[in-house]
Amino acid sequence: MTPPDAQALASAQKPLAKNLRHLLSEEAKGRNPSPLKEAFKHFHDPKIISLGGGLPVPTMFPFDNLTVDAPAPPFANGNDHPPTCEEDTTHVEVRKADGVSDDVPLCTSLQYGHSQGAAPLVDFLRKHTSIIHDIGYQDWDLILTVGNTQSWDAVLRTFTNRGDSVLGEQFTFSSAVECAHGLGVNMVPVKVDLNGIDPEQLEKQLDNWVGPKPKLLYTIPTGQNPTGSTLSLERRKAVYKVAQKHDFIIVEDEPYYFLQMPKFTNDPEQREKDLEPQSHEEFLKSLVPSYLEVDTEGRVIRLDSFSKVLAPGTRLGWIVAQQNLLERFVRLHEVSIQVASGFSQSIVYGLLRRWGQEGYLDWLIGLRKAYTLKRNVALDAVEKYLPRDLTEYIAPDAGMFFWFKLDSRKHPKFAALESDPAKVEEDIYETGLQYGVQLIPGHWFVVDDKTSPAQKELPQSDEDKYAIYFRGTFASVPADKLTQAVKLFGEHLAIQFEL
Ligand SMILES: Cc1ncc(COP(=O)(O)O)c(C=O)c1O
Repeated sequence: MTPPDAQALASAQKPLAKNLRHLLSEEAKGRNPSPLKEAFKHFHDPKIISLGGGLPVPTMFPFDNLTVDAPAPPFANGNDHPPTCEEDTTHVEVRKADGVSDDVPLCTSLQYGHSQGAAPLVDFLRKHTSIIHDIGYQDWDLILTVGNTQSWDAVLRTFTNRGDSVLGEQFTFSSAVECAHGLGVNMVPVKVDLNGIDPEQLEKQLDNWVGPKPKLLYTIPTGQNPTGSTLSLERRKAVYKVAQKHDFIIVEDEPYYFLQMPKFTNDPEQREKDLEPQSHEEFLKSLVPSYLEVDTEGRVIRLDSFSKVLAPGTRLGWIVAQQNLLERFVRLHEVSIQVASGFSQSIVYGLLRRWGQEGYLDWLIGLRKAYTLKRNVALDAVEKYLPRDLTEYIAPDAGMFFWFKLDSRKHPKFAALESDPAKVEEDIYETGLQYGVQLIPGHWFVVDDKTSPAQKELPQSDEDKYAIYFRGTFASVPADKLTQAVKLFGEHLAIQFEL
């Protein structure tokens, strides 16, 4: 890892972010700092007796302490083993009183007043961010959120007005699309192939854009949901150039970033090697660079979350962006969520501070191993049980999902189902449930909003038009069930397609 001094020097030589405030929404432009929130800085000043804030006195908080046991680095027994002995255990004990330890005491975390997040946790995440990403400009920062679902809602409110359009991968996380719809925003599809966004198609789409240009591209570049694809660095650079040319912001929603794995292989020796312990340097080098690393203008907003690396119920995430734009998020949070849960911040920081940056990397390295094993089980079953002539897929290098493509025209009921690929998918899905297996049909993830005025239709091959897709996950069930489910789905496809 680069020493902090060298990092600070390298950062000082980088450019400052560009002013992108012209992209803000009317809502975001209209927010003023709340004078009461401004006054918060004096509430904790020991030189001032403040009668200014509507703060309950912490002695009346009925929570005296929080204690949690968690496994301890280097997690030799894997990430799914509870602590068994003293050496294996990280004891987290957070007290209410201040000054007892370096934790975020409950008297602080359970109190009003920290819209950016508790300072020590924000600091830990700043260090973590600079260990993982070599951000291409100087003046970045981060703010805590309640997870990426809320972060995306905050991004939409900050940049879009009702009636605006944003771009999204042609198949994407349906909650993100619905969040946009609720705010009156269209999500217009960007063409993807099995490797993710096709930058050339994206450029053509924007060169020929009709009407007001989209201000945002919403993308899940790593372990994409639902396709499992991970965008290469070359494509990230090319997409970034299009963003510069057409002046939009790239919003990378990255909950699966740390579920990156080595390339899938059938070679048993290579598999053994892939599971050997990694050093921190090897691990850091193995990660695909974030869009933040190609960003020299502060036009990337990164959404990070503890949901897939610690637990979804922590409801803790963070947004990394240029300071000048983040300030608008602070104003939004002051009058909406205020801040993420104080309990959660105290526990998560209590754990991370005891693990340290290095221990947290050990945890992430352990996750990589666990997900590699699961991915391999799923793909072994896919290769063994799914009809080869019928299915096409790319082995995922990240995330929780595998995704495969079929040709709906080969289905015997294609004509009876009105030659409609979505109906064929639905039929396979419904009959699959009767057969005892559930994989999710691709059209549940389709983005197909139109703009007004309408965009020119891009040419589409018959192969694309009649393709159908299914998404499976290898995260949620044990290995034997995973294999059994893929086997059942393979049998089910063979019956459906009369092979
Ligand atoms: C792409 C994507 N973004 C966001 C989320 C939700 O993240 P969080 O729990 O941080 O709100 C998910 C969860 O399934 C997801 O797949």
